[in-house]
Amino acid sequence: MRIIITGASSGLGEALALHYAEGENDLVLIARRQEKLQKVADECLVLGARVETVVADVNDFILMKSIGEQLASEKIDRLILNAGISVGHSGGVTSFDDFHRLFQTNFLSIHALLEPIIPKLIEQKSGEIIFISSLASLLSMPTSIAYSSSKRALNAYAEGLRYQLKPYGIDVMTILPGFIESEMTKKNNFTMPFFLSTQQGVKRITNAIAKKKHFYPFPFRFYLMIRFVQLLPHPLRDKIVNFTNFKKGA
Ligand SMILES: NC(=O)c1ccc[n+]([C@@H]2O[C@H](COP(=O)([O-])OP(=O)(O)OC[C@H]3O[C@@H](n4cnc5c(N)ncnc54)[C@H](OP(=O)(O)O)[C@@H]3O)[C@@H](O)[C@H]2O)c1
Repeated sequence: MRIIITGASSGLGEALALHYAEGENDLVLIARRQEKLQKVADECLVLGARVETVVADVNDFILMKSIGEQLASEKIDRLILNAGISVGHSGGVTSFDDFHRLFQTNFLSIHALLEPIIPKLIEQKSGEIIFISSLASLLSMPTSIAYSSSKRALNAYAEGLRYQLKPYGIDVMTILPGFIESEMTKKNNFTMPFFLSTQQGVKRITNAIAKKKHFYPFPFRFYLMIRFVQLLPHPLRDKIVNFTNFKKGA
């Protein structure tokens, strides 16, 4: 299988690359930090994969389009759009620059890469696109408005794309993780509910991909809690959100 993974230099992307390396797959790994990406690639090679690394900033949209064109010159079986950032949880007003960067990285860069790839998948009449969204997209907390918004935009994009591509036999999946051990969550100085190790997280993600789950929020109990809060009348919901807001040091 030819599998492309963005954000493969650390965290979930790294663990996903190592997981799929074991199946003797052709991997294309994308991220900015060359040294870290090469280290992941070397480990994947040892596990039996054929690996290509692409050192690129997903915010360079012209570059992303050209990478998409190059990738589309060969068959693409699975594309995991995992690169993403957060700007931490703060109670203040998010600067426009941070907001812009989050939307570029977590959302807009994705279509820059996909624009030339989608016609290729349609021509193939096969392929999988997997979006790594977040449970944070379902409930926007006061301390992570920009992150939640960017991931909610991603959900809407993925939903429409799924309807568009289903008739061509292309599977579009949205994975919504809760808190998982990674460089991103290392920065959080509050107690993260239902926290999972990277391995636990990746096991669930790869199982969901194998089962072609088009919408996979996890951990399930955390997801249920969010759904429950969403059903409450607004005054009660406000109280709960303010009570649970992730602002206390752990
Ligand atoms: N960990 C969690 O609790 C959690 C929960 C829900 C969703 N997620 C999502 O899971 C995905 C992976 O995050 P993670 O937790 O594994 O964090 P991470 O360890 O910080 O990994 C983020 C990855 O994205 C890459 N990346 C970031 N900005 C980039 C850019 N401009 N260009 C290219 N690559 C870029 C990073 O590589 P370079 O820095 O080398 O470029 C890195 O490989 C993200 O989309 C995140 O929003 C994580």
